[in-house]
Amino acid sequence: MFALTRALIRALVVLLAASVSIQALAAQGRFGLGSPASAEAIAGWDIDVRPDGLGLPEGAGSAAEGEPVYQAKCAACHGEFGEAVGRYPVLMGGTDTLASEDPVKTIGSYWPYASTVFDYVKRAMPFGHAQSLSDDETYAITAYLLYLNDLIEEGQVLNRSTLLEVKMPNRVGFVKDSRPQEPKVERCMSNCRSKPTIAGRARQLDVTPDDEAGDDKSVAAPAGTGDPVKGKDAFAQCSACHSLQSGEHRVGPSLHGIVGQASAAVAGFPRYSAALKGVGITWDEATLAAFLRAPQEVIPGTTMPFAGIQDAAVVADLVAFLQQAALQ
Ligand code: HEC
Ligand code: HEC
Repeated sequence: MFALTRALIRALVVLLAASVSIQALAAQGRFGLGSPASAEAIAGWDIDVRPDGLGLPEGAGSAAEGEPVYQAKCAACHGEFGEAVGRYPVLMGGTDTLASEDPVKTIGSYWPYASTVFDYVKRAMPFGHAQSLSDDETYAITAYLLYLNDLIEEGQVLNRSTLLEVKMPNRVGFVKDSRPQEPKVERCMSNCRSKPTIAGRARQLDVTPDDEAGDDKSVAAPAGTGDPVKGKDAFAQCSACHSLQSGEHRVGPSLHGIVGQASAAVAGFPRYSAALKGVGITWDEATLAAFLRAPQEVIPGTTMPFAGIQDAAVVADLVAFLQQAALQ
C-alpha cells in the first residue's frame, strides 16, 4: 500500500515534469492515445430509448407478426401468453392489483411507458442472447406483449410514432416524492444514548427440551427450591474465580448480588468477553441453571473456563446460596 503510494507519487512527479509538453500536445488537440470514435462505433453503443421516444429506431411490427417470434425466442421462459414458466418474470396481467395487498407488477400493470418495454427488450432480451433481435422484430414483439396486456389490437402496427401513442395504465402512478431528503431535526453528536434499562429479554436461554426426558434433572428441581446450606458447599467450585465481596474481582467478576442482575454488568470488572457482553440477559434461576449447565454451549465464546454442573438441583442450591449471601 505504502510502496504503491510512493510509486504513484513518483509517477505524478514524472507526469508533472512532462506536463508542459502534454499541454502543448493538448493545445494541438492530440495526445497520441486511442483512436477517434467513429459514428458507427458510437451508434453501436447509443441504443437506449427514452420514455419520450428519443432513440426509437426506424422499423415496424404488429402483434400478429410478433407472436411467432415471441413463441420461438421468449416463451421458453416467459410462457406462451406471458404467464411465465417457473420463477421467470410474468409479462402480462396484474392491472388493478397495484394498490392491493398483493400487487402484481408486470410491464402491463406497472411500467409507465411502452417505449421502455421496447428499450428493455432491445437491449436485454432474449436473456443470454441480448441484442440479437432486429428492430422490426423488437417492434413486433413489443406489440405482441402489449396485445397480451389488452393495450393494443392484434393488427395494430407499432413504429417510432405509434408506439408513443400507447397509454400505459400506470402512466400517472409514479409521483415525485415531496418529502424532504433529510429530516429536519437537531442531530445529537455526543452522549446521545441514555443508560439502557433491561425490561425483558428476547431470548430465553435453554428453552429447548432435552432429547432424553429421563436425563433432564431440571424437571426434578422447580424454581426456588434450593437449599442455601448445600449451595455454600457447591460454591467451592466457583470461589477460586469468584468472590462474594462486592467489588472484589478474581479471574471472574464478584458475584455479590448477581441474582436478579443484568449480565456483564458487574461494576469494575474489566475482562468481560464480547460474547457475554452481547448476550443481554438477566441472571435468575432459569438463566443461571442454563448457563452453569454448559457455559460454552449456552454462551458460545464466554471466557468462563468452567465445565458445567449437570445437576439442576445443585444449581438451585447455588442460586439460593447466592441470594442469601447477597443479603448479608
Ligand atoms: C432464458 C430465459 C429468458 C428468455 C428466453 C427471455 N427472457 Fe425475458 N427475462 C428473463 C429474466 C431472467 C428476466 C429478469 C431479468 C432481471 O431482472 O435482471 C427477464 C425479464 C424480462 C422483462 C422485464 C420483466 C419485468 O417485469 O421486469 C421483459 C419485458 C422480458 N424479459 C421480455 C423478454 C422477451 C421479449 C424475450 C424474447 C425476445 C425474452 N424476455 C426472453 C429470462 C428470459
Ligand atoms: C476458572 C474460573 C471460573 C470458575 C471456576 C467459575 N467462573 Fe464464573 N466466570 C468466570 C469468568 C472469567 C467470567 C466472565 C466470563 C465472560 O466474560 O465471558 C465468569 C462469569 C460468570 C457469570 C456471569 C457474571 C456476569 O456479570 O454476567 C456468572 C453468573 C458466573 N460466572 C457464575 C459462576 C458460578 C456460579 C460458578 C461456580 C459454579 C463459576 N462461575 C465458576 C470465571 C470462572
